[in-house]
Amino acid sequence: MNHPPSAHLWPDNVRNDEGTWSMAGLTFAELAERFDTPSFLLDVAALRRRARRYREVFQGAFEAAGAHVQVYYASKAFSSTAVLRWVHAEGLRVDVASHGELLTAVRAGVPGPDIGLHGNNKSDAEIALALDHGIGRIIVDSLPEIDQVAELARIRGVRAPVLVRVTTGVHAGGHDFIATAHEDQKFGLSLASGAAAQALELIEANPHLELRGLHSHIGSQILDPEGFAAAAGALFTLRADLAADGGPVLPEVDLGGGLGIAYLPGDQEPNLEHIAARVADAVLAASEKDQLPLPELSFEPGRAVIGPAMCTLYRVGTVKPVALDDGGQRLYVSVDGGMSDNLRTALYGAAYHADLVSRHSTAEPLAARVVGMHCESGDVVVRDVRLPADITAGDLLAVPATGAYGRSMASNYNLVARPPVVAVADGGAREIVRRESIEDVLALDVG
Ligand code: LLP
Repeated sequence: MNHPPSAHLWPDNVRNDEGTWSMAGLTFAELAERFDTPSFLLDVAALRRRARRYREVFQGAFEAAGAHVQVYYASKAFSSTAVLRWVHAEGLRVDVASHGELLTAVRAGVPGPDIGLHGNNKSDAEIALALDHGIGRIIVDSLPEIDQVAELARIRGVRAPVLVRVTTGVHAGGHDFIATAHEDQKFGLSLASGAAAQALELIEANPHLELRGLHSHIGSQILDPEGFAAAAGALFTLRADLAADGGPVLPEVDLGGGLGIAYLPGDQEPNLEHIAARVADAVLAASEKDQLPLPELSFEPGRAVIGPAMCTLYRVGTVKPVALDDGGQRLYVSVDGGMSDNLRTALYGAAYHADLVSRHSTAEPLAARVVGMHCESGDVVVRDVRLPADITAGDLLAVPATGAYGRSMASNYNLVARPPVVAVADGGAREIVRRESIEDVLALDVG
């Protein structure tokens, strides 16, 4: 059994036996034959291992201090009933951020107390569904939402459990992390302006709401723990101030998601133990200072759980050598998907890797760019990669680390049908999200 080059980018059970690539015992060629391309391939065992490991590492880091940790899978990264069942079976709860994500969690059988609802513009319908399902927490994002949730709770004769999303001024992403006094963005209630404190007061005074705690989410694709530590410090200070003013000692603090993953051969996956230990240290330091009982801590990883558990399988169509200004040449390799199944390259300038997975080639590796089939020059899947000079129509290419925000941000641009997600485990495979047909797409057009 041979691991592929840059094995750390691929789902655990991907192998490369002299050019025959496989996932959990099924070759990529068989999978392409059965499910067609493009397809997202999910390594179920890898997903479950990552979910379990995240929970165990974070629970372990806080256990010594006597603090309990809950991990919520941020289902915006990718949501389907099968995936939610698997992560829930591994002990994760589920974070949803829309009506569709909430309904998916309900249909997956996730119990209400294990669901958290996010959103900066929640509809009455989603709050009502959340309350009717006995949701564990609604993360309040604005002052008007306080009355909105309270009214829907009053009508139902329940008390809605709420957390307040606090904008701490800490923003992180990639390696850089900057602390600023004010966040110019749409989420949360600002600490600096006093809006967060005002929200706490309003919720406390409202008989239809149960104030459970504080929440902060500082960004995404974060590789360094310092931003989480800084945000924890800010939330613990707010919690202590509230208690010092005669308010309650809040039982929950959620530090959000955002942990990054490796996308390129040169990237390292962040060290989970190290990050969890650093965050636990910061939490303990903060709570020693305020001398209050530790709250239950929670985290909301999306990408770090599902990202590396999937890859995308494409078939190569046109291959075009293009002369570069510096005298060099780049191979433009067109595949049968593109920005409709992976928007991240076009939207964020995200970098990806790709490999030829249907045969072994000894041809010289050339500078290449993997592009999609859309009518747009920004339709790039992998900006810079080296691919064998003999790559040709009919070859299969796979792109690793596409599990998070790939299928979930897919579109029907150019009226293409969106790819399926195929779950692969123990030599078997099935669609957990079926391929859209052109008829599905065109059926929305009612003339
Ligand atoms: N919790 C909250 C409140 C969030 O807003 C998010 C992501 C998460 C958790 C999960 O973050 P993660 O662990 O997956 O980084 N579409 C972008 C990412 C946007 C993330 C939005 N919120 C991308 O493709 O990189």
